[in-house]
Amino acid sequence: MSKFNEVTYEVMISEQEIGETLDTLAAEINSEYAGVDNLLLVGLLKGSVVVMTDLARRLSGDVHFDFMTASSYHGGTESTGDVKIVMDLANSIRGRHVLLVEDIIDTGRTLSKVRELLLSRGPASLKICTFLDKPSRRVVEVPVDFVGREIEDEFVVGYGLDYAESFRQLPYIAKVNPA
Ligand code: XMP
Ligand code: MG
Repeated sequence: MSKFNEVTYEVMISEQEIGETLDTLAAEINSEYAGVDNLLLVGLLKGSVVVMTDLARRLSGDVHFDFMTASSYHGGTESTGDVKIVMDLANSIRGRHVLLVEDIIDTGRTLSKVRELLLSRGPASLKICTFLDKPSRRVVEVPVDFVGREIEDEFVVGYGLDYAESFRQLPYIAKVNPA
């Protein structure tokens, strides 16, 4: 049990387990895109930055990066259906093979909205990769092609995931114990 900013937390997925999970994910993605010249990784800021950079370094083909910020949070720990694009992609995705990279899928609301938007822009293909998935929390069905780990309905932080913007830099996934 560790303490940071008066919040206690315990390790749930270690740094080593994260590495093993990424190796498996990358192998699946490498085989899926074996014949593709260039893959565009689209990360949803801010949470997916850490997993996207670690994942990208395990991919064997040529990849490009782009980022988008979609906000569906209004202070609480559950997203609402009201998803706003706070920052859009820098470049067009028309005709591109796009892999959307997420840190975690919870209700699926954010991803479902972002997926619809990206599909409307005419990519050659669009697939979704998430490091963590909380399937028991799903409200909106969204097809997820690559899942790192499924977890129970618990609030987790670290490895990009935050609690009030803190904890993103932890090299492992931790479970927060509410005060
Ligand atoms: P939805 O519900 O739209 O939300 O699938 C996905 C986004 O919700 C955030 N989220 C979490 N963030 N620990 C976090 O730090 C969690 O346990 C958690 N569950 C959901 C996250 O931003 C994700 O992109
Ligand atoms: Mg997120």
